[in-house]
Amino acid sequence: MLPRPNSAGHVVKPSAEMLKLAAQLLLQGECIAFPTETVYGLGAVATDPQAVAKVFALKNRPLFDPLIVHCASLSMVSSYTQWPANEVIAKLASQFWPGPLTILLPKKNIPDIVTAGLPEVAVRIPAHPVALALLEKVNLPIAAPSANPFGKLSPTTAEHVLYYFGDKIKLILDGGKTEKGLESTIIRLYSNHIEILRPGPISPGMLESVSGLEVRLVSKAETLVPGMSKSHYAPSTSLTVVSKINPEDARQTRAALFFKAPDFEPAGFCAYRILSREGSLVEAAANLFSYLHELDLSGAQEILAEAVKEEGIGLAIMNRLRKAEH
Ligand code: TXA
Ligand code: MG
Repeated sequence: MLPRPNSAGHVVKPSAEMLKLAAQLLLQGECIAFPTETVYGLGAVATDPQAVAKVFALKNRPLFDPLIVHCASLSMVSSYTQWPANEVIAKLASQFWPGPLTILLPKKNIPDIVTAGLPEVAVRIPAHPVALALLEKVNLPIAAPSANPFGKLSPTTAEHVLYYFGDKIKLILDGGKTEKGLESTIIRLYSNHIEILRPGPISPGMLESVSGLEVRLVSKAETLVPGMSKSHYAPSTSLTVVSKINPEDARQTRAALFFKAPDFEPAGFCAYRILSREGSLVEAAANLFSYLHELDLSGAQEILAEAVKEEGIGLAIMNRLRKAEH
């Protein structure tokens, strides 16, 4: 008999018993939500096309937008991609895995629905004990996009996932707030350079110093990543990015998202959040999506968001803020 989720419903602490239940549900072709170090994922066994189809349906995600495949180990990566692809990839993997780096590699034994028919699969080994324990129990790769409906902000807590999907998901493993708060960096390797398709916690500088290669940020128009449309990551409330939020911007219909502690009393806004009082980009990234979720629910008619410095993970923060603008 399968153990049952506790009385708190289907949001459960990841005990050994609940991990076992999660793994069994996955192996039976169900989707479940689980934490990673970046954001919560909505997972299905990657080798089960019908289970993967449920993920697309739940998210209302177009089938042309491929999913990231999560692996437990390099040996699992080697069963589902051409591995080792080359020396640079091996170096990047040994430096950044487990971690928030997703690499596009030629696929093996991965159904087409996962990659939207593309010959390459996006893979990573997540650095979260719950995600890793789950992958080890299932002993198969897990395809998992962020656990939000298509076009909505990514979830950084189990409550966000519950808010979006209610009981449409059988089980949500609650690992608390995610550490990084932003989705992984996605890269593709070329013979003499690396392309960043989506900026994330692993910065261009980090990739450059480990690979010794030039790193290029690909602009939206050039990118081959289909799911990176402008409206991605958008709160429902309209949002504008400004270089600095000033006292005269305050309105009772506006919410403000400050980067650092403001040098004025922001009570004139209907709601406000400060990404990092001390101005730490890493802390700001970790708070970004949760604060956007909160301001989105504050009843404001619009959100003003303050720009951050575009360096390191600040690049990824600005990338998400610009996509949230509408
Ligand atoms: O941090 C993350 O990456 C989180 C956690 C759950 O791992 N996952 C995540 O997945 O952000 P998702 O599906 O929300 O974003 C994946 C992005 C999409 O923009 C998709 O288009 C792109 O990766 N992608 C996936 N497979 C691809 C492929 N084979 N070729 C090109 N782009 C791909
Ligand atoms: Mg997503």
